[in-house]
Amino acid sequence: MPKRALPYVICHMLPSVDGRIVTRDWDLPRASPEYERTAATFGADAWIIGRISMEPYAGKARVPSRKHRERIPREDFIAPHDATSYAIAIDPSGKLTWRANDIDGEHVITVLTEAVSDDYLAFLQSKGVSYLFGGKSRIDLASVLAKLRARFRIRKLLLEGGGKINGSFLAANLIDELSVLVAPVADGSIGTPALFDAEDGTPPRHLRLIAMEKRPGDIVWLRYKVRR
Ligand SMILES: NC(=O)c1ccc[n+]([C@@H]2O[C@H](COP(=O)([O-])OP(=O)(O)OC[C@H]3O[C@@H](n4cnc5c(N)ncnc54)[C@H](OP(=O)(O)O)[C@@H]3O)[C@@H](O)[C@H]2O)c1
Repeated sequence: MPKRALPYVICHMLPSVDGRIVTRDWDLPRASPEYERTAATFGADAWIIGRISMEPYAGKARVPSRKHRERIPREDFIAPHDATSYAIAIDPSGKLTWRANDIDGEHVITVLTEAVSDDYLAFLQSKGVSYLFGGKSRIDLASVLAKLRARFRIRKLLLEGGGKINGSFLAANLIDELSVLVAPVADGSIGTPALFDAEDGTPPRHLRLIAMEKRPGDIVWLRYKVRR
């Protein structure tokens, strides 16, 4: 069977030296601008994050109940838009209550399972948020990537956390490159999200160092290719 065309996936993250990623108490004002600046150098068509990381961007809106209760077919929905770059969430059960269909001009695509409610699909359509189905009750990341490439012409994708989504991409062996900006902080908190939080049994993946650079604010930028 021919290999499906998938976007090139770069996992771009800002971990502490001990691999933790919750930046809230770090008090490193230069870290976030440096993260955004380096992200922009990749010229990616889109970025993708997990439902928890997307919550601050999605905002809070009310999902209204519909008067007419006809079933909405579980078919991908591409809302009208003229953006050429995309902000993508993995939200299997439809928890994100979008206020708008763009984040800083980037069109929102949300990835769902077929288990979401009809009311939620009607809500997304009313907001003009595009959605793709990633599976009946579980998300098949490889088929999601194939759809992103085929339907939205996404060739280069930044995977930007958190640990759970990164871990599931790692487990599925779908990461081509890893870009880490190591923040000058020893976090030490036990049980908080880490760079990769994969399910038990995920094999370690070996990496090949392709670049390293000292960046402003005592940040070290490391880039690796994932060995396959
Ligand atoms: N330092 C950094 O560079 C950086 C970058 C990004 C985020 N963060 C931080 O990371 C933290 C959040 O990380 P997290 O690991 O808790 O959450 P996360 O990866 O942002 O989101 C996890 C959730 O996304 C959904 N999901 C992700 N992958 C899935 C898959 N393969 N299949 C099905 N559902 C999937 C699930 O939603 P449901 O629970 O609804 O099923 C899952 O619980 C936040 O504190 C954020 O600020 C740090």
